[in-house]
Amino acid sequence: MTKITFIEHNGTEHPVDAEDGAILMRVGQANFIPTIRGECGGTCSCGSCHVYVDPEWLPKLKPPHELEQMMIDSLELVKRDNSRLTCMILVTPELDGMVLRLLNPDI
Ligand code: FES
Repeated sequence: MTKITFIEHNGTEHPVDAEDGAILMRVGQANFIPTIRGECGGTCSCGSCHVYVDPEWLPKLKPPHELEQMMIDSLELVKRDNSRLTCMILVTPELDGMVLRLLNPDI
């Protein structure tokens, strides 16, 4: 199991134990993480699984592929350099301790 912490915009922390090999978006849904809605079912076409990855964890992730980057770029109001889509991230032991920050749902 890999420990991952989702943090809401108001500071509320949601530490979860994620199975290695799981899709991070599914982990978020299974743990009722607010703002991880996954409306397209993980086909990288909705942006509703967006998170901000704490910068020190970015090198541990494979860079976003073209489709993910296009989807992130379309989220003009919220995208940042550390934006990622959780449906495109597989949990691996290297991610143990990773911190992800969630969108403000009021934006
Ligand atoms: S679940 Fe739709 S883009 Fe990730």
